[in-house]
Amino acid sequence: MKREPYIVANWKMHKNYEEVVSFIENLRREEALLARNSVLIAPAFPYIYPAAKAARGSPILIGSQNINDKMEGAYTGEVSALMVRECGGSFTLIGHSERRHFFHEDNHWINRKVHAAFRIGIRPILCLGETLKERESGNTENVLKKQLLEGLEGVEEDKAGYLLIAYEPFWAIGSGKSATADQVEQMHSYCRMVLGELWGKEVAKKIPILYGGSVNAGNAKALLIEKNVDGLLVGGASLSLDSFKKILYDGDLNS
Ligand code: PGA
Repeated sequence: MKREPYIVANWKMHKNYEEVVSFIENLRREEALLARNSVLIAPAFPYIYPAAKAARGSPILIGSQNINDKMEGAYTGEVSALMVRECGGSFTLIGHSERRHFFHEDNHWINRKVHAAFRIGIRPILCLGETLKERESGNTENVLKKQLLEGLEGVEEDKAGYLLIAYEPFWAIGSGKSATADQVEQMHSYCRMVLGELWGKEVAKKIPILYGGSVNAGNAKALLIEKNVDGLLVGGASLSLDSFKKILYDGDLNS
């Protein structure tokens, strides 16, 4: 049986204070939608605290788009998992493709961040995905496997229950060209198989695998009904409350 989908808003470097707070104040009134979806919002670092305050008492969870792997120290411009938690964050994206490509994060650094999130008790959402070149050269599965195995190295089975995975092909992000539901299902079931090799099938079954990359109101449902799609990570279409609400699932996934 499918549970409520995880719908994660990744606001990237968008929105000001007013916009963050009013979005959440309005969204929290949508009780019927919030009962059918697990809604997570990742604003920019300075807005985690006001966002968490606006969401307090509602089921909306607030988190960050990144963390550093260290707890504290002389790392100018960086933010630790502990700081995110103290500001009211309960999850973090890790290894988003924009971090991998623009900020040169590799699987080993990403792995240390995953451990840091677990150590502090915020849920890591490990993001992975292939470039167009990797897909066209038939390397997608190898790339995903490496990102999973290296990104999750040393993570014990008892932690796996807190982990989320987000499959986001680089070519689909912000391009308006989402992967098809078939392509997504295929890659998600492949990722689940790799997770099964790591921790066994029963554990792998319970790890939510989300899809991201040009998700919008028009394609969200077709993606969510796929067997191995447990949620969506939404960038551009999460910025307006209206389009975000249309992405939230309003029916019964089992019907
Ligand atoms: P997009 O971004 O929905 O704008 O393609 C998704 C993401 O980067 O997480």
